[in-house]
Amino acid sequence: MLALGILGSGKGSNARSLLEAIRAGRLDARVVCVISDVAGAGILDLARTRNVPAIHVDGSPFRTKLDGAAQDHVIRLLREHGADTVVLAGFMRMIKSGLLRAFPRRILNIHPALLPAFPGLEAWTQALRAGAKVSGCTVHFVDEGMDTGPIIVQRTVPVLDDDTPESLHARIQEQEHLAYPEALALLADGRLRIEGRKVIRT
Ligand code: GAR
Repeated sequence: MLALGILGSGKGSNARSLLEAIRAGRLDARVVCVISDVAGAGILDLARTRNVPAIHVDGSPFRTKLDGAAQDHVIRLLREHGADTVVLAGFMRMIKSGLLRAFPRRILNIHPALLPAFPGLEAWTQALRAGAKVSGCTVHFVDEGMDTGPIIVQRTVPVLDDDTPESLHARIQEQEHLAYPEALALLADGRLRIEGRKVIRT
């Protein structure tokens, strides 16, 4: 059984989908803590309503990365709560080498585009602006780069002519809520092997 430590900065719909997959018996895991760099984030409220430890960590003095004392704090919290797998679910800071070394090949992220296309912020807006006809979401292992790690699962979403950033992101999120539990279930069942940059399903 996986022991998930979830990191998020937003409303927490992906965290909810994982909790629901666990409850439904589709994912052999438990969520040991939810950590956010945003004090009022919905993901912390969600955790509290599910009786999961919900912890705010001040990320300053940095704005876009998790480093220094804040990173040390997060590593300590994850260890104290017994996490063996770190799940980035809308966590809007870059992960640095300290956390990567503390949980080698055990940090996953979900990204709202078909990587390697459209890494970075507001990927759904990037896809719209580029005139893409198909987008989607990607679950991948995290490495030192921005949204560059080995890809585990992708799900596609058509981009419609009348899509707005909001409507496209909403449809991508529906697929995210299927992709993340699916990827973690593969990990929980020991069915993932990494060969170079490639993830092989066994
Ligand atoms: C999700 O769409 C996720 O893919 C995105 O933030 C949203 C969080 O939603 N993450 C990124 O853009 C990371 N670069 P949630 O708080 O409802 O799970």
